[in-house]
Amino acid sequence: MLELAAGLADTGLMAAPLVGESGRLIVTDFTPEMVAAARRRAEELGVQNTEFRVLDAERMDLATDSVDGVLCRWAYMLMIDPSAAFAETRRVLRPGGRLAFSVWAARERNPALALVGGVLESQGHIPPPDPGAPSAFAMADRGRIRELVVGAGFAEPGIEEVSFRWPFADRDGYWRYVTETSASTSPVLRALAPEMQNKVREQVHEAARPYRSGEGYDFPALCLNAVTY
Ligand SMILES: C[S@@+](CC[C@H](N)C(=O)[O-])C[C@H]1O[C@@H](n2cnc3c(N)ncnc32)[C@H](O)[C@@H]1O
Repeated sequence: MLELAAGLADTGLMAAPLVGESGRLIVTDFTPEMVAAARRRAEELGVQNTEFRVLDAERMDLATDSVDGVLCRWAYMLMIDPSAAFAETRRVLRPGGRLAFSVWAARERNPALALVGGVLESQGHIPPPDPGAPSAFAMADRGRIRELVVGAGFAEPGIEEVSFRWPFADRDGYWRYVTETSASTSPVLRALAPEMQNKVREQVHEAARPYRSGEGYDFPALCLNAVTY
C-alpha cells in the first residue's frame, strides 16, 4: 500500500494495521521534513510494517505495477501537475489495484479553510483565486475529479461527500492554524506589518463568528472522497 503526499501519515498509519503483518505500507511525501516527522510518528505509535521515502507524486521513483493500493488525503489538488500525478498513480498500481483519495469540496462548505483567503482577497492582499491553479479547492468539482481520474486511464471513480466537524478549542488556536499551516495564505499573513496582521485577524474572527462555540470554533467541513474500481 502506497500513501502519497502523506504529511504526518495520519491516513496511512491508520491503514497500516489493515494490510497485516505480511503487508507493507510505503509512506511518501516530497518534503523530507514531513517524511522524517511521519517516521517519528510511526515510532511513537509502534507501527512497524512501514517504510518511509521522499517521493514526488508527479514523478515516482517506483516500478510499474508495483503496489496493490494507493491512498492520498488532501494533496492531489495542491500538485502543480495533477494529470501527471494521476498518470503516475495508474502506472505504479498493479492491474486491479485501487486508488482512494480525498479532496476538499467547495470553499463555501469549508469555512475553516476558506475564511482567511476571503478576508485577504477583500483587502487586496492576494488576487482572486485562479481556478486552474493548485489550491485547496482546485478539485472541489466532481467533473474535474472524473476528468483527471478517467484521463489517467482509470475507470469511472465512485465519489461521495464526507462531512465532519472541525473544532478549535480557542480563537488563538484557530489563528495559529491559519498562520502556520497554509502554503498559500500563511506566508502572506506573516509578511504583513503587525498592525495590518491584527486587522486581518480581527476580520477573520468576525467572519468566523457564526461558528463560535465556547472559547473557540466548531466549523463544518466537507470532503469529496473518491475510489477507483
Ligand atoms: C495539505 S498536506 C496533506 C498531508 C496529509 N496527506 C494529510 O492528510 O494530513 C499536503 C502535503 O502534500 C505534499 N505534496 C504536495 N505536492 C506533492 C508532490 N508533488 N509530491 C509529493 N508530496 C507533495 C506536501 O509536502 C504536504 O505534506
